[in-house]
Amino acid sequence: MAVPRSEYLSSVWRDGIFDKKVVFCTGGAGTICSAQVRALVHLGANACIIGRNVEKTERMAKNIATARNGAKVIGIGAVDVRKIEDLEKSVARCVKELGGIDYVIAGAAGNFLAPIEGLSSNAFRTVIEIDTIGSFNTLKATVPELIKSAAKNPNTGTNPSTGGRIIFISATFHFTGMPLQAHVSAAKAGVDAISASAALEFGPRGITSNIITPGPIWGTEGMARLGSRDAEKSGVAFKHVPLQRYGTVKEIADGTVYLFSDAGNYVNGEVLVIDGGDWRSPSGMGGTTTYPDYLLDGSFVRPSAQKAKL
Ligand code: HXC
Repeated sequence: MAVPRSEYLSSVWRDGIFDKKVVFCTGGAGTICSAQVRALVHLGANACIIGRNVEKTERMAKNIATARNGAKVIGIGAVDVRKIEDLEKSVARCVKELGGIDYVIAGAAGNFLAPIEGLSSNAFRTVIEIDTIGSFNTLKATVPELIKSAAKNPNTGTNPSTGGRIIFISATFHFTGMPLQAHVSAAKAGVDAISASAALEFGPRGITSNIITPGPIWGTEGMARLGSRDAEKSGVAFKHVPLQRYGTVKEIADGTVYLFSDAGNYVNGEVLVIDGGDWRSPSGMGGTTTYPDYLLDGSFVRPSAQKAKL
């Protein structure tokens, strides 16, 4: 059954803005990436999604194709982003069947909660290999197509339909450090660094490279692994987020549309954090009150300031 547009795309975007464009997405059967691709397909693109699980990837491709009449969405399973040959074969198939690649989303990731003392060297390396090396492999395998796309659809500042764009999906953990996430923090710091270098190396050829960094998002594999059902039920889980709620996959999809659309032509080498302000949020003031209670109840407002006239 088709997913209602309101669940994966806001109403501000115009249908057809990605006509004749092709998106290639690793981790495309996942909750966040499938919403990103669904939004692009709804707005005119065809797509190729890549995953490890064959059945899940092919089923998701069929489902995403319901976002627009006539959409072509290919699901390629049994692909491990740790193996460059797997990606090269997938790129060749995507180009053969859909005619090229204009946009890439490097979204495949691996995660679990573990303290450093509970992480084997192999466990640490596994996440680095999936997230960091997998993102590098995705860039390596697709960049020849991105170069062609950018040459065909140049980023001139006046062309409303440019090509040659890549978005890497990252995390905020390495901005501050994060308990139980040393492996993912290190891996995603590497992803951010790859994107920054790509922005500099390929910008002169018209390609943009950016990061989207989702925060806590409802219904995702990330929150299923990292979040607490009890804290969500009681509402405690949202207190840390300045906007006092989790985000939605639609909000990540909207950021993706922005970066690939005419509106995002001059954004390059940037990190777009979509997290309701979560990563900036203090973890508490160390007293009996927790964030944001000490802000909302006025605990720290001096009596003289309360009386002061504006
Ligand atoms: C400690 C663990 C562990 C755990 C696995 N390992 N789980 N160590 N705590 N909970 C260790 C294993 O013991 C092993 O080390 C090593 O990791 C490799 O495990 P394998 O199972 O052999 O690897 P593999 O089959 O490749 O699986 C990779 C994986 C797995 C990352 C471990 O969880 C996976 O496939 N995940 C893919 C899906 C996924 O994670 N999606 C979530 C993405 S969400 P030893 O030493 O025993 O050999 C996300 C959100 C980010 O990224 C942020 C959101 C806010």
